[in-house]
Amino acid sequence: MLRKLLIASAASLLAASPALAQDGLQPTGRWTAPRMGAAATPPMGWNAWNAFRTEVDEAKVMGSAQALRDTGLARLGYRYVNLDDGWWLQRRTSDGRLQIRTALFPSATPKDGGEASFKPFVDRMHAMGFKAGIYTDVGRNACSQAWDLKSPNLPVGTVQEREVGLEGHVDQDIGLFFGEWGFDYVKVDACGLADYAPGSAVVAKNGYRPSDPLIVRKDPTADRSQAVRDLYLEVGQSIARHSPDGDYVFSICTWGRGDVRAWGGQVGNLWRTSPDIGSRWSSMLRSFDSVATRTLYARPGAWNDPDMLFIGAGDFDEAHLTEARSHFTLWAMVNAPLLIGYDLRDAPRSLLDIWGNADLIAVNQDPLGNQAALAAHQGDVQILVKTLSGGRTAVALLNRGDKPAGATLSSQHLRLAADVPIALRDLWSKADLPPFKGGRRFELGPHETLVFETRDTASAGSVLLSEMPARIHVAQEPTWAPPADGFDGPADAAGRPGGAQIDASPYRTPLTVAGRTIPHGVGVLANSRLEVRAEAEFKRFSARVGVDDASPSALGEVRFLVYGDGQLLARSKPLRRGQPPVDLTARLQGVRTLELVAVAHGEGPPPAVAWGGAKLAR
Ligand code: GLA
Repeated sequence: MLRKLLIASAASLLAASPALAQDGLQPTGRWTAPRMGAAATPPMGWNAWNAFRTEVDEAKVMGSAQALRDTGLARLGYRYVNLDDGWWLQRRTSDGRLQIRTALFPSATPKDGGEASFKPFVDRMHAMGFKAGIYTDVGRNACSQAWDLKSPNLPVGTVQEREVGLEGHVDQDIGLFFGEWGFDYVKVDACGLADYAPGSAVVAKNGYRPSDPLIVRKDPTADRSQAVRDLYLEVGQSIARHSPDGDYVFSICTWGRGDVRAWGGQVGNLWRTSPDIGSRWSSMLRSFDSVATRTLYARPGAWNDPDMLFIGAGDFDEAHLTEARSHFTLWAMVNAPLLIGYDLRDAPRSLLDIWGNADLIAVNQDPLGNQAALAAHQGDVQILVKTLSGGRTAVALLNRGDKPAGATLSSQHLRLAADVPIALRDLWSKADLPPFKGGRRFELGPHETLVFETRDTASAGSVLLSEMPARIHVAQEPTWAPPADGFDGPADAAGRPGGAQIDASPYRTPLTVAGRTIPHGVGVLANSRLEVRAEAEFKRFSARVGVDDASPSALGEVRFLVYGDGQLLARSKPLRRGQPPVDLTARLQGVRTLELVAVAHGEGPPPAVAWGGAKLAR
């Protein structure tokens, strides 16, 4: 049974909500996600790592930069040329200044008794119309020093001289990179927090100073996430100080660890969500899977990062263009950074055509910044839907398997009424498909991804929250809940479920309340607060709320509260698992920030809740 709730006066309702004193559940009355740096759309460019690892040098980087220009890729938006590990020689112990491996970067050689400097290199990049990126580690030592032990380009010297990471030198190094050398982008890795434990082989054999890991490789639940966050926060603040024009990108690289899902977007512009991508299909899928369920954590200025493109190598080389196109399509759909990892001095036309697909670049760079959400999983086929500007939608069908597979795309996946004609344009072949209604079956080859764009099909009247993930900020959610039986869903790096989801419960089951499936909405654990940027564009909010059947415990009661600019607009009675959903509505006269709070009372883990069909009407 659905029950209409009366909207009571704000004062009387507020008085009845003592549990709101709980941290983070109090309405703030405003959108609190910070906006910093220069990543309004996902960064695009080139990075040396996947092509060269530490065997990078100036000719290779310059050659690839030149090729970005000559091939026209630069004009399509590939703007950042980023160094990765391997550029450094050592840290000078007299004053802590980092020394560049000038044998690899001759233009950095000191002139007239001065210092080695990347300024000439960066100036040249800028003169060519590029932005330049550099690489460091948030700890004392870097990743290559633990993982690339055969590299000819590891830092040299005493234990102290080989401490090239930021620890103890944050402001000095960031000032050097951004202030003195003029870099525009920094990737900050985290091996220094993970791989130099007392007694570890690398410490014993190679003579590094040990430190107790804050990221515990073998036991993600032991990560000291707050400490990891604080270190990155210090780096971010230093970057902002040394880039007063705000033209910077801060790339966080903790491989999804340290609970970065919760804080990446508060601290930096992009954050890795998975271990390093390799050139195998399964590795690409692992990276993709690590972002595909994090739609609600990205927005303009803050992006999930499944790692750099591996197009051109292994399962994505010239002989595997189907896989290469799939990789590019998926990265475009999930708003991943598009960082080419290939030696562009010698790139075949077939690969250039993939990086150069202007329609997919436009999907990735769409100004609304909505990451695609998973809409369906039929056998080996997943369907991804991304709301674009101009009332358009991009939809991709991915065949994960190595056999042909089919799937049916329905109007419900596109969040359209069944009688709306669907006209699709294929973003690889550029063909227009004959319009259809209701649903249409597609056949896919092994590892194939089809991707289409719809014409303007948006209804002017109302918009589902599912269609505007970039305008939702998961401001507060519990960090831990035990898995429901058989849970195999969107774990964070620590294997814990619970992230807020579009059109699914935090356990990735369909939103279901009292046996009733609700096709669209936001699923999240209770004791959560979502901020929604309404920007005074809407007159009314409505949702059908309840405790999701996927909740592990039937004990807790949940109350749903809706705030507009800090004022309580509506709230539900306490609801338990198994009780039918309840309609909540609120009038939004001029409301800029809407807040959706679900508060659990009682013992046990917070239940999963459904903000079913949540939508804003104009
Ligand atoms: C880590 C990062 C990679 C790369 C290497 C460099 O593994 O995740 O992207 O930067 O370090 O050593």
